[in-house]
Amino acid sequence: MPITLIATAAFGLEATVKREVVKLGFPVAASDNGSIAFKADFTDIPKANIWLRSADRVLLVMGEFTAVTFDELFEGTKALPWGDYIPKNGRFTVTGKSVKSALFSVPDCQSIVKKAVVEKLKEKYRLDYFEETGAEYTIQAALRENKVTITVDTSGVGLHKRGYRASQAAAPIKETMAAALIELSYWRKDRILLDPFCGSGTIPIEAAMMARNIAPGLTRRFASERWEQVPVAAWSQERAAAKAAVKRGFMPKIYASDIDKEVLRMARLNAENVGVADCIEFSQKDIKDVKLPGEYGVLITNPPYGERMSELNDARVLYKSLGGLVKNEKSWSAYVVTADEDFERIFGKKADARRKLFSGALKIDYYQYFGKKPERSNHE
Ligand SMILES: C[S@@+](CC[C@H](N)C(=O)[O-])C[C@H]1O[C@@H](n2cnc3c(N)ncnc32)[C@H](O)[C@@H]1O
Repeated sequence: MPITLIATAAFGLEATVKREVVKLGFPVAASDNGSIAFKADFTDIPKANIWLRSADRVLLVMGEFTAVTFDELFEGTKALPWGDYIPKNGRFTVTGKSVKSALFSVPDCQSIVKKAVVEKLKEKYRLDYFEETGAEYTIQAALRENKVTITVDTSGVGLHKRGYRASQAAAPIKETMAAALIELSYWRKDRILLDPFCGSGTIPIEAAMMARNIAPGLTRRFASERWEQVPVAAWSQERAAAKAAVKRGFMPKIYASDIDKEVLRMARLNAENVGVADCIEFSQKDIKDVKLPGEYGVLITNPPYGERMSELNDARVLYKSLGGLVKNEKSWSAYVVTADEDFERIFGKKADARRKLFSGALKIDYYQYFGKKPERSNHE
């Protein structure tokens, strides 16, 4: 049955997620404000969840309508075919968001939507009480300029939870964000990658997974695995295909260092969990002692950022060392994500491009310095 899915994206990453959706072969129907809608089938739900690297979640669109009153929200929601989706014992919670809409109270919208779904299910199952002990259906009512989009979350836990990060440093970057930063860079699997502030190893590990074509969701579970609409065989086939697609013997050149021995121990453990520890060279190094490992490499990093002035000053000493390391190396490209607005001045060079992103509520910038590309590189 044809369905519409939405891949959700962090602010600023819409184009990156869209490219991934297209690469997976899905026709994009619309893309804006953190969501990329695409046409699919129920049997495509495993593929989207297992393979999307930089999307936050995959949502199933139940319906869209306009509502400026609670009655319209109730009736619009109740008109949707909930009984065809949610079984008698389904567990359903409602989340919501509202932007520039007459119905601005999100808790009120959530309870109206829940009431409408319950009413519809009561009619279908002839029950007054639902135990909610079965599969999970997280419904979202998203209002934007009075247009309501009702979705159900197929992913469950967010897609950044790949399952490999048992241990993490104090300020880890989200796996989905790390994947996006790599996709936005010049790095390709035949080029050197260096992260000199690697922390728990998220950037090097995500790059190694790309190089070896390891699907980000290969070993984790998803909420819709328990849904009747998605055949069990579709999950097992997609997982088997993803396992077969892994290029185990491929050896990318990935270098990761950090000053902190303990975070490096975590990073190695995380890399072992994914099966990429053999292709990342981890070492304990202060940034001022880091040397570039070869030519035509790509440095991608997320250095410390201090919110208090004293921390900020400490962080800026590191940005200066980082600038000293790469800013004059013509064959190296450098990509640095930080919330420090003054980064370019401290680093010592104006970035070729600067992209505004958000890490949760924190506004960050992705400073990009484009080096020369190797003459015979495998650029796709
Ligand atoms: C924001 S964290 C990086 C987080 C990492 N991307 C992750 O996902 O876990 C910054 C890292 O810089 C490291 N660091 C701080 N001072 C350093 C220095 N002088 N040289 C190298 N690394 C340093 C910290 O130990 C910390 O792990």
